[in-house]
Amino acid sequence: MIDISDPPMLGDAQLDHDHAELFRLCRALLDVPSDAIRPAVEQLRAEMRAHFASEDADLRRLGGNNVDCHLDEHAAVLASLDEVHLILGESQTVAHRLISSLALELLRWLPEHVSEMDANLAAVRSQSRFGGVGVRITPRPAPLA
Ligand SMILES: [Fe+2]
Ligand SMILES: [Fe+2]
Repeated sequence: MIDISDPPMLGDAQLDHDHAELFRLCRALLDVPSDAIRPAVEQLRAEMRAHFASEDADLRRLGGNNVDCHLDEHAAVLASLDEVHLILGESQTVAHRLISSLALELLRWLPEHVSEMDANLAAVRSQSRFGGVGVRITPRPAPLA
């Protein structure tokens, strides 16, 4: 059994929207039929590239914690997706196995990356727009009986 949890919400509408979409595309790779692998990977690659380009621009413009490390993680994920894309034409069986393991890795990686790196970027973006860090209001958990 795999333990996959949704990426945490950061209270930044654009980042939260992008992360939910990336997570949905990664999850879809687990069930993708063989003849739809290539377009599914190409869509994920395009969405990742666009999302990382936007975050990279903000990281360079606004700074924050671990900027170099954050940029490196984005580059490493894109490099992995490029490598997988190159291998896709070789064999349907290899491609299917490869895509499943890539999807699982990305589904584990994304929530961790969001909570450890993107959360800081969301705070810096909020600071830049509003002059302070946003406050997230969540319902109080029900008391234990
Ligand atoms: Fe992100
Ligand atoms: Fe990021």
